[in-house]
Amino acid sequence: MNTLPTTAMPDIALKARGLGVVFGGLTAVDALDLDVMGHSIHAIIGPNGAGKTTAVNALSGFQPPTRGQVWIGNVTRDRWTSHQMAQAGLARTFQNIRLFGGMTVLETVLVGAHKLFRGSLPALLWRCATARAEEQRQEERARELIRFVGLPDATVGQPAQSLSYGNQRRVEIARALMSEPAVLVLDEPLAGMNVSEKAEVSELIRVIRRQGVAVLMIEHDMDVIRSLAERVTVMHQGRKLTEGSATDVLSDPRVQDAYLGKMQ
Ligand SMILES: Nc1ncnc2c1ncn2[C@@H]1O[C@H](COP(=O)(O)OP(=O)(O)O)[C@@H](O)[C@H]1O
Ligand SMILES: [Mg+2]
Repeated sequence: MNTLPTTAMPDIALKARGLGVVFGGLTAVDALDLDVMGHSIHAIIGPNGAGKTTAVNALSGFQPPTRGQVWIGNVTRDRWTSHQMAQAGLARTFQNIRLFGGMTVLETVLVGAHKLFRGSLPALLWRCATARAEEQRQEERARELIRFVGLPDATVGQPAQSLSYGNQRRVEIARALMSEPAVLVLDEPLAGMNVSEKAEVSELIRVIRRQGVAVLMIEHDMDVIRSLAERVTVMHQGRKLTEGSATDVLSDPRVQDAYLGKMQ
């Protein structure tokens, strides 16, 4: 089953130069340069408050940067909206799960396709028979993705919020994949999961990458980082502290100091 697009991505799938985000007097992200290569898993790590989520928000159109520029593939804009990012091929999940109250798993995953349309989706879908065929195609794809992320078929009609925390994260990943992204951004996708769930979702992330998607993820679990990430960017106090292979950065004394709070 070919669940995901395998369109060739440029060498760099997601790029930032001089990215900065200032909240009032606080510089949350400072002069960040980042290259996420196509077909790779790239992790951002760093202690709490390092600016990881803010950086990812600025990289995905959810936080207007104060400075700097973002490219998706070869496409760039002065000011991205999250909708424009989705159209350019980027999808994401959130640190705090965002599932809509009352919606079933299937409905929730279908929302991911809606990002690609402007205007009222129901109007668009019900306008004519072609649109109904399109709706059916989207629903089939949503069901495929629900299976692909490892959710039991029985969950399709259940309220998404009634699922276990780990399964809600899978729903979020399926929803993100609905837009057929070239770049998938995951903010702590394994948070709150037990060891076997972590192993399963790590494998899922590997499969997603293998199918041609570039993955940028924030993660805290160093074992997961070691086994998944080809490249790791370490943030500390809004800045890039260092970058390299997991083995290199995790053995860097500056990184250990940052985690122990020794670097102020
Ligand atoms: N919306 C906001 N308004 C003001 N300060 C914020 C906001 N979001 C984050 N911050 C601050 O920016 C810094 C970086 O936060 P965050 O990006 O959430 O870090 P991380 O994800 O690495 O834990 C923190 O000092 C945090 O308190
Ligand atoms: Mg965070």
